[in-house]
Amino acid sequence: MRVAVLTSGGDAPGMNAAVRAVARAAFFRDWEVFGVRDGYRGLLEGRIYPIDRRGLGGILHRGGTILGTERSVEFATPEGQRQAAGRLEEVGIDALVVIGGNGSLTGALRLVELGVSVVGVPASIDNDVCGTEAAIGVDTALNTALQAIDRLKDTASSHHRAHVVEVMGRDCGYLALMSAIAGGAEAAIVPEFEPRPEALLLHIKKAYDQGKSHFIVVVAEGAPLSAEEIHEYINGTEGTYDARLTVVGHIQRGGIPTAYDRILASRLGTAAAQALADGDSGTMVAVRGDAIERVPLQEVVGGERELDPELYKMAEVLAELPE
Ligand code: F6P
Repeated sequence: MRVAVLTSGGDAPGMNAAVRAVARAAFFRDWEVFGVRDGYRGLLEGRIYPIDRRGLGGILHRGGTILGTERSVEFATPEGQRQAAGRLEEVGIDALVVIGGNGSLTGALRLVELGVSVVGVPASIDNDVCGTEAAIGVDTALNTALQAIDRLKDTASSHHRAHVVEVMGRDCGYLALMSAIAGGAEAAIVPEFEPRPEALLLHIKKAYDQGKSHFIVVVAEGAPLSAEEIHEYINGTEGTYDARLTVVGHIQRGGIPTAYDRILASRLGTAAAQALADGDSGTMVAVRGDAIERVPLQEVVGGERELDPELYKMAEVLAELPE
């Protein structure tokens, strides 16, 4: 069996650990392993190369992806997809493992529809992939966002300021909500729930009047009320905190993957090879509770991941946001 592996979309810490796990589990079965450079774009261009055991050395703990990644516009077209499938056939690849987020897994499904044998592995810092409780990279990104919040709290308290912190997540508020809870932020603004600017302002003023030394608002980048707007809103209001704005940005994408992400990637990568060994295709390996399961790509791509309203409510209660 000849297996190829690619990483696609936004890089996520732990992708290398997943590549390593797929390859090692393949070597264990005496399969040949190939890497595809720069995601679907590399596939289209036939940049497929053999990977040996030495090529996997020292990558488990490295952030980013040694294979390279891209968001390919060309591959999004039916012609691009046909071309990519053709490349795999030319090189004699029997199966492909796609490691990436929603866009990448949609691409995987398109290849399956063209008769390619594909298994997906969820990797995206946003935690917006349906069918899995966690995607590779989320835990590391969350801890990075949390570290930023902790540091900002130090300076906020020293200067008696408000800090508005924008975290990543595209259309998903997971990173914002979880980092706000873990960081003890005074408010979290996320795309999934309608913001309440009046209650927020009341909350800020009350905290200021009561002498609270800092006020931290975590805002998801896709929230209906942007971090910039909230920052202006606070600074435009008399008798409250002086506010500063911080965008954590791509710092969240890099860095050494946490133990959780390395273990998750190792489990999912190994499970992807097992799925191929079982003759499976068109599925994504996923974590659900303690188990690793297989979910049809169709369900993954068609679904929408919800943000737990109970957790959102809990964040409001813990921050004592007025009703
Ligand atoms: O999907 C991961 C992500 O980091 C999102 O959180 C963010 O919206 C987007 O990618 C940024 O993309 P780019 O790296 O292309 O600017």
